Amino acid sequence: MKQKILELLKEQEDYLSGQMISEKLHVSRTAVWKAIKQLKEEGYVIDSVNNRGYRLVEAADVMNEAEVVSQLATNWLGRPLRYFDEIDSTNEYLKREAAGGLIHGTVALANEQTAGKGRLGRSWSSPTGSSIYISYLLRPDIAPIHASMLTIVAALATARAIEDTTGLNAGIKWPNDIVVNKHKVCGILTEMSSDMDRIQYVIVGIGVNVNMTEFPEEIKETATSLRLETGEVVRRAPLVAKMLFFFEHYYELFLKTEDLSGLLADYNAHLVNKGKQVRIVERTGEWTAIAEEMDEKGELVVTLPDGTKKNIISGEVSVRGLYGYV
Ligand code: BTN
Repeated sequence: MKQKILELLKEQEDYLSGQMISEKLHVSRTAVWKAIKQLKEEGYVIDSVNNRGYRLVEAADVMNEAEVVSQLATNWLGRPLRYFDEIDSTNEYLKREAAGGLIHGTVALANEQTAGKGRLGRSWSSPTGSSIYISYLLRPDIAPIHASMLTIVAALATARAIEDTTGLNAGIKWPNDIVVNKHKVCGILTEMSSDMDRIQYVIVGIGVNVNMTEFPEEIKETATSLRLETGEVVRRAPLVAKMLFFFEHYYELFLKTEDLSGLLADYNAHLVNKGKQVRIVERTGEWTAIAEEMDEKGELVVTLPDGTKKNIISGEVSVRGLYGYV
C-alpha cells in the first residue's frame, strides 16, 4: 500500500487529495494518512496541506527492496533481490545460501554490513545508511580460469552506472578499483566455488562509497565518496538499478566470446593507468613500466624501459601508481 501511494505521488506533480488516494486504492483515509506518516519516517519529504492533500517534494535517499525493484530494467539480474537493513557481509550471505540452490542472478543488497570483507583479507568499512553493499550470484557455464574476468565486467558496469547517475567521470584503476579524481570510490571482491572444470557459482561483491563523508584512518588519504565529489546527496536506489542494468548488458557481451573483446573499447576508455608509469610489485622484486591497455584476457599490457612489451596478470602482481593513489 505504501508503495502504491508512493507511485501515485510520483506520477502527480500537484497535490493529490487523501480522498482521491483512498478511492483509487480502495482503502480508508486513515490508512492513507498512516502510510504517508510511515513514508515521511523513511525519509521522503511529503508536503501536506489542508484541503489540498499531499505532494512528494523530494524522494529521499531511501534504499529498500521496493524502491530498487520498481526501478529495475533488467531481465534476470536482481530477480530476486534480497534486501537487508543489516547483514554480516552480502558475499557471505550468498555463499551460505548458494548451497541451497539460489538461482543465477540473485542479488543481495544491504544498508549496513557488520563484517564487510575487502580484498587480501582486509575488512571493508560498511557503516549504515550511506553506501551500497551488493553482491551478485552467478552460475556461468564458463571455464573456471575465466571467472576473474567477471570482476572486470563488474568494474566497467559500475563505472558506467556511476557516470550515468552522477555525471562524474569514473575511471578504472586496473583491474577493478573505481576512482574519481584519483581517489577510490568502489571496490570489488569476487569469490568462486568450482570443481576443476566446472563453476558452482561466482559471487561478485561490490562496495560503493556513496554518501560517506568520513573514512577510517587507514583509507582517509585514498578514499572518497560520490557525495564528496558531487557536493550533493546521491540517491542509492537509482544507482543500484543502473549498476544491475549495465552489469547484465556487459555480462551478456562477455558470454558471447568468453573473453573481454566486446568490452575492450569501453574498458580502455575508462582506464586511468593508461600511458602512466606504474610500479609492478612482484614476489621477486619491484620494477617500473608504462601501462598501455588491457587486452581481451584481462591482462595489462605494459612497456618496459627497454621498449619491450609484457603482459601483467592480475592476482600475480599488484600495480601501484607512482603518483598518488592512481
Ligand atoms: C576491495 O578490497 O577493494 C573490495 C571491497 C569489496 C566490498 C564489497 S561490499 C559488498 C560485498 N560484501 C563484502 O563483504 N564485500 C563486498
